[in-house]
Order: sequence, then C-alpha cells, then structure tokens
Amino acid sequence: MDFTDAPIDQTSATNLAEQQLTLALVDTANDRERYAAWHNVVNRGFYGERDDEKDVEFLLNAGAYRRTTGVWDAAEAGVDPVATVSTWSTPLSVPGGTVPTWAISAVTVAPTHRRRGIARNLIEAELRTAAACNVPVAALTASEATIYGRFGFAPAARVSKITIDTKRASWAGPTPTGRVRFIELDELFEQGPAIFERERLQHPGEIELGELLWSGTIDYRPGKEDKAKDIRAIQYTGAAGEVQGVAAYRVKEGSDDKLTASVLHLAAATDDAYAALWRFLLELDLVRVLEADLRSTDEPVLWQLSDVRAAKVAPYDHLWLRIIDPIAALEARSYSRPVRLVLDVVDPLEFAQGRFLLEVNDAGSASVSHLTENAPADAGHLALSERDLAQIYVGGASATALHRAGRITELTDGAVAHLDAAFHSPVAPRLGIWF
Ligand SMILES: CC(C)(COP(=O)(O)OP(=O)(O)OC[C@H]1O[C@@H](n2cnc3c(N)ncnc32)[C@H](O)[C@@H]1OP(=O)(O)O)[C@@H](O)C(=O)NCCC(=O)NCCS
Repeated sequence: MDFTDAPIDQTSATNLAEQQLTLALVDTANDRERYAAWHNVVNRGFYGERDDEKDVEFLLNAGAYRRTTGVWDAAEAGVDPVATVSTWSTPLSVPGGTVPTWAISAVTVAPTHRRRGIARNLIEAELRTAAACNVPVAALTASEATIYGRFGFAPAARVSKITIDTKRASWAGPTPTGRVRFIELDELFEQGPAIFERERLQHPGEIELGELLWSGTIDYRPGKEDKAKDIRAIQYTGAAGEVQGVAAYRVKEGSDDKLTASVLHLAAATDDAYAALWRFLLELDLVRVLEADLRSTDEPVLWQLSDVRAAKVAPYDHLWLRIIDPIAALEARSYSRPVRLVLDVVDPLEFAQGRFLLEVNDAGSASVSHLTENAPADAGHLALSERDLAQIYVGGASATALHRAGRITELTDGAVAHLDAAFHSPVAPRLGIWF
C-alpha cells in the first residue's frame, strides 16, 4: 500500500471518538479552506505567524504529496482542527544506502485540548500506518527531548552549532580552482535541492528535500521576497562551470556591535565546493563571527582553520528515529565489520519486539532473521530496547557508551565491541534541516 492511499488508523479513530473527537485526513486537492485552517493551527501550535493567501497557495502545492491529518472536536464550530500531524514516506540515508522512512512533522495539539492523550493517539496511529505500508523506520525532529522516547524514538544523529571567531582563524584548507559568485534567491531556490540531493547520499541521517523543506531551510519562499531582503546567496562552480555547491547567509549586528554572519544553509556536493564556500564565508570583510547551525559533529571545516580554538562547537540531539521493522531496517544498511549477533529487542509498543539474528558478510551486507528458538551458541548475544536500536541504527551513538550507561546488556563477552565495530559509520550521521 502506498503511503498516500493508506486509510486513517481505526484504533486511534475509535479511541478519540470516545471523547467526541474525529481523526481525519484533509483532502488537500479539493478542500482549500480546511487545509488553510489546518496549517494555521500548526502555525499557532509553534507560535508562528498566520499565513496569507500566497503562503497557502505555496504550501498547498509544495505540500500536496503529504498526508495531512487532523483531529476535529464535534463541540467546536468551524473548520479548525484541535490537533495536527503531517506525514510522508521518504528515503533516509543510512550507511551504504537508504531506507524507506515515515517522516512525522507538524505535531500539535491545541492548548485547549492538551494532555488528554491526543498526541499519543496521533503518533501511535502514524506508527501503525507506517507498519501497514511496510515502512520500517519513522523519523522526526523534536521541539522537546522529553516527548518522543515513550513512543520508541531515540536521538540517532546529533548535530552541532559552530561559532567561529573569524579574526582569530584564517583559512588553512585547500584552494579550489572554481569560482564563487552571488546568485539571486530564486536561483538558490531552484538549484539547492539538486545539490543537497547529491550531498545527502554521502551523509547517513539525511532525508529527501523537496521545495517545502528547502524553503523552510533557506527561510525564503517564492512570492515572499519582502521577508528575505537580508538573505544573500552564493554558488560555487567547478572549472568546467558546473554548479557544485550553494550557500545562503545573513549578516547582522550582534549585541556587542560585532557583525555576525549566520549561515542558513551550506550544501556542497564536492569537497572543492565545501572548501570554497566555507572560505568565502570565513573571509567576509567586517564580519567578526561566523555561525552555522545543524552541522555535523565531525565537520571538516574545523580542520581547515589556522587556529582550531577559534571555533566553538555545541552538539545537540536532532534526528530522532523509531525502528518499526528491525529486519527491513537492519538489512537496508551496510556494516563496517562482519558479525554474527543475536539481538533481543524489547519494545513496549511491540513493533520491534523479538529475537533477531544479524549476520553480516565480508562485504558488509546483512541478512537478518527472526529467531523463535534459543540463540545459537556461536553468535554474540545482546539485549537492548527498541530505543537503543534506534539510537545506534545509523552509527550516531556508541553501543559501548549505552552499555556503560546500563542500557544495552551484553549476554556474551565481547558482543558490545562487535556491535560497535559493525554499526560504526565513517561519516558521522547528521540531519541538516528541521522538518
Ligand atoms: C507536545 C504536544 C503535541 C503534546 O500533546 P498532548 O495531546 O498534550 O499529549 P498527550 O496527552 O497525548 O500526552 C502523551 C504523553 O506525552 C507526555 N507529554 C506530552 N507533552 C509533553 C511535553 N511537552 N513534555 C514531556 N512530556 C509530554 C504526556 O505526559 C503523556 O505521557 P504518558 O502517556 O506517558 O502519561 C502538545 O503539547 C503541543 O502541541 N505542543 C506544542 C507544539 C509541539 O511542541 N509539538 C511537538 C513537535 S515536535
């Protein structure tokens, strides 16, 4: 079943109906009024501004591919829902490939209806619908780190905010031979997703970027130029003239009169584009501070500065994953070492519950099977929760650290070290956008 055709989850619909609440999809093709109301409720939930007609037009077109779900209260007049969620299936980059993933966004419950179990019903409905569509992983970015663990999500990739004192550090990286030039915002808008797409596949943890997510990332949407007057965009082209990277930034006066350049996004499909764009930003005249958020925890630019202490790096959790089908999820990625491991996964919501045999061959490919009998004596053996599995899945967390934290249990000697070595990703996973 394709994700767009899946019906509303009946378990949650029945639960919510007990409170006179209706769980339903918005017909985005035919019901503009209901969609506009739905999106304004999302804005309100995140304390954002109301949309105007141009916003609704853009959002309807750019977001038409998604499942737009809401909860309506029979006691309320009008078309405003009391809760919202937006979901779609997207490839998530994992070591060695991609895995179909259920992206969950725009989760809001009106303050008038909070703490009545509405969010729980929405999230569990999405997990069941994803399972019904054979999508093995769910993903989200979280406004608060305390909400989603109870649904089996765990922080699987951290990102960092990098702040560089540009007077202290000079460029010590390579000098690419291509050109950096300014481009207009509509060019940036058009070129960005293709560049990002090339870069995305090199970084576990990234999801596909359409117009809607790209527009949020660069803080610009066509028709809303007034709101983006201070955004500057640059592009890097290689010696043959092909576009290899783009970046968008704003320069503002900080509290101490120092000019700060804030990078909205830097997408580089090649190492040359990466070096040229970072160098350009680092060498902006008058600017004393360069800051960039949502960067990797292992960012090469840190090793392209003359003074490594000029950069402050603040890491935090960003991509949250939930394993729905361990067999499909584990078989979708490649591994750094051959291993034979039995994983006893405990999952209170039962999606990932069970005993699994993970066998990785010399080429790094996995075959995974469900075991109903005892673990084979010649395999390493571990017990872990569905959240532990999600946390180590793309190589963004150390199994050894989780073991030392009392979370992963080693049932045969050395099994944690094997798990760590196999799940390691040479490129630190990251997610460079909010969704
Ligand atoms: C977060 C939000 C969606 C929760 O909705 P809700 O309907 O009140 O949540 P529920 O009543 O279903 O609560 C489900 C569980 O989550 C817990 N919970 C809910 N919101 C929480 C929060 N902000 N922090 C910690 N726990 C929270 C509840 O205590 C409950 O726990 P339990 O089932 O283990 O007892 C809602 O408060 C909201 O819209 N906030 C503003 C927008 C936002 O932050 N959205 C999340 C986007 S990532």
